[in-house]
Amino acid sequence: MKIPFNKPYMTGKELWYIAQAHQHGWLAGDGEFTKRCHTWLENRTGTHKALLTHSCTAALEMAAILIDLCAGDEVIMPSYTFTSTANAFVLRGAVPVFVDIRADTLNIDETKIEAAITERTKAIVPVHYSGVGCEMDMIMEIAKQHDLIVIEDAAQGIMANYKERPLGSIGHIGTLSFHETKNLISGEGGALLVNDSRFAKRAEIIREKGTNRSQFFRGEVGKYSWVDVGSSYLASELVAAFLWAQLEEADDITSRRISLWNTYHQCLKASESKGWLCRPVVPECCTHNAHMYFVLLPDLIGRTRFIDKLKASQIQAIFHYVPLHKSRAGIRFSRTHGELNVTEDISTRLVRLPLWLGIEDYQAEVIREVIAAL
Ligand SMILES: Cc1ncc(COP(=O)(O)O)c(C=O)c1O
Repeated sequence: MKIPFNKPYMTGKELWYIAQAHQHGWLAGDGEFTKRCHTWLENRTGTHKALLTHSCTAALEMAAILIDLCAGDEVIMPSYTFTSTANAFVLRGAVPVFVDIRADTLNIDETKIEAAITERTKAIVPVHYSGVGCEMDMIMEIAKQHDLIVIEDAAQGIMANYKERPLGSIGHIGTLSFHETKNLISGEGGALLVNDSRFAKRAEIIREKGTNRSQFFRGEVGKYSWVDVGSSYLASELVAAFLWAQLEEADDITSRRISLWNTYHQCLKASESKGWLCRPVVPECCTHNAHMYFVLLPDLIGRTRFIDKLKASQIQAIFHYVPLHKSRAGIRFSRTHGELNVTEDISTRLVRLPLWLGIEDYQAEVIREVIAAL
C-alpha cells in the first residue's frame, strides 16, 4: 500500500536513549529510564503511582488481580472494545457483562450501567474509544452508590482529558497502551495508573512476580521474598528508554495529530451534510488526542465497497472491532445485558482512515479519494 493505515513515528532519539541504557548496563526493569517515565506519567496525569508494564493487556491483568475477583464475579464493560478489556478478567474467572454503547461517542452508555448491576458485580470498565472520554462523572457516581471499582481502559487515551482530567486518572485504576499503533509508542508497552492509593503497595508486588523487590530496591526491607500472587509485568529498560524519547515529545506529537484530525474533519463536513457519512462526535467536556479518525458509512455493503475502492487507490482504510459478545470466546465466557443494537450497528459501518505523523504530504490525496469513493 502506498498509504498504509499506520506508520510508527520515531522522534529520532529512541536509539540514543537505548544506547545509554546499554552503556549503563541496567537492562531489566525499574532503572533510570523507567523512573523518568514514571515521574512524567505521575506529573502529567496526577495519578498517585504510575507503573510501566510490557503492555496495556498486562496492566489490565494487574488490575484484575488487584481487585481480588472470585470466580463468577461480574465486570461491566462495553462489547465494542479490544479483547484484552474482557480477557484480563476472564483469566481470573470473572464474567464480563456487556452493555451497549452510545451512538455519538461510541463509548459505554452510562445510562445502561445501573440496570446491569447484580450482587456479583465488582467493577465497571469504561473504555475511552478513540481517545474521547466516557461520561466519567456519572460512572463514578454509580460506582460510589454500589461500592464498585472503576478501572479505566485508557489504552487509546494518553494526553486526552475529560473535564480537564487526564483519561486513566479518574477511576480507581487506569491503564494505558504504548503499542506501536498508539499515539506514543514503545513497540509493545503500557502502564498501570494507581489512582487510589489503597492499591499502590500491592500493585508493585503483583508487578514483581509476587515479591516485595520494589521495597527492597528502595531500601525499605533488608531482603525480598514471595509475599503475594503476581507475575512479571515490568517493561525492560530498553523499552522504557525508547518510550522516554516519545514522552519528551508528547505535546508536539499530540498537536500534530490533532492538526491532521482537524483537516479530515473539516474536509469531510460537506460529505456529512449530504448524508454520505457521519463524522466522529467529541463532547464539549472532552479534549481528545486524535488517536484515530473514523467515519460511519450507511451500511456494511457500502463500507466494503468503500474500503475496496480506497485499496484500489493504494490507500489502506480498515474497520475496527468485531463486538466481543459475537466472538467465539465472548459467547463462551461472557453475557450481555439488554440489547446491543448500537454496538452491532456501528461495528458494520465504522471505517478508520490513515492517520500518522508523516501523512501530511498525502492527506489531500486521501481526502480526494475518500470523497470520490463516497
Ligand atoms: C481499548 C484497548 N484496550 C486494550 C488494548 C491492549 O493494549 P496492548 O496492545 O498494549 O496490550 C488495546 C489495544 O489496541 C485497546 O485498544
